[in-house]
Order: sequence, then C-alpha cells, then structure tokens
Amino acid sequence: MPILPILKYPNQTLRRKAAPVREFDAELVALVEDMAETMYAAPGVGLAAPQIGVSKQILVYDPATAEEKGNYTALINPRIVEAEGEEIGEEGCLSVRELCAEVKRTYRIVVEARDLEGSRLNFEAEGWPARVLQHEIDHLNGILFIDHLSSLKRTLYKKKLKKIIEAEKQGDIGESAG
Ligand code: NI
Repeated sequence: MPILPILKYPNQTLRRKAAPVREFDAELVALVEDMAETMYAAPGVGLAAPQIGVSKQILVYDPATAEEKGNYTALINPRIVEAEGEEIGEEGCLSVRELCAEVKRTYRIVVEARDLEGSRLNFEAEGWPARVLQHEIDHLNGILFIDHLSSLKRTLYKKKLKKIIEAEKQGDIGESAG
C-alpha cells in the first residue's frame, strides 16, 4: 500500500467542497487503507481525502495517544448534527506547513456518517476527538484551520509561508508526505 503525497496550502483542491460517496466498494476500502497508512506515516491524528487530492467525503482519524495508536476509524459522508459548548485548543495540519495555533471549537458534537460498508453511524464525541473530527470535517468543506484564526494571524502566516516556499524552491528540498 503506497503512502500518498499530502497536498499543501494554498493548493486549490483543499478549497473544494468534497462530493458525497455513493459506491461502497473495494476501491473505497483500498483508498481508506492508503489514507490510514499516509496518516500514520506523516504522522498525524487525522486525514481527509481532499488532502491527498481526492475530492470525496472520506476521512480517517485516530486521536489515541502514541502507545494506543493503530485503531483508526474511517468515516464516509460525515456531518455534525448536534453541537454544544466551546473549547480552545492547539491545532496543526498536515496541509499547513509549520504552524500551530489555538482554535476555538465546539466541545461536544454528535456525528452522523456511514462506515465502509455503507451502514449508518451515529455517535457522540467530546474534547480532543471532537476537535479532530471538526478539523477533518472542515477539510471536506474546503475549510482549513487557519480560516478560524484572526485575519492578522492569517496575514502573518501567509508572509511566513511565502518565505518557506521560497526557501524550498532555492534549496530544492521538495515537500513529500511530511
Ligand atoms: Ni488538517
């Protein structure tokens, strides 16, 4: 199973609204397995299909601590149907180079989704897992965590990113799955 390259902001595929999945077939299972492998290799706690250039409503996540990792969940066509409370916490993103920032999220959510076989899921999440889910579901709607920051912070980041990209070009480092 290949580890897939992760698209980086400002790639425009990250800004598209992902299409719902209609076919729950072997191709979907294979894609999810590649996504999970790519997420663990990065390493990350979640990965949405648009991040690997597939504009479909698919995400994988594993919010467990390092020792307990390996038991990921795949969600197809997920949406948040209930939301309650607020919490501020730090986030980063595999598609946003060199930035961690505090983001305000809903504390408790109820999510509806399909599993890999197309069966309906409905479950509750709180705190960190709820944060990871909100971040990944945002990706399926073309939203990045930097969109939740103040415009000043975003402007500063864009300046920093310009320098990072410039340095990459000059050094010919080329970003891979990291
Ligand atoms: Ni992300």
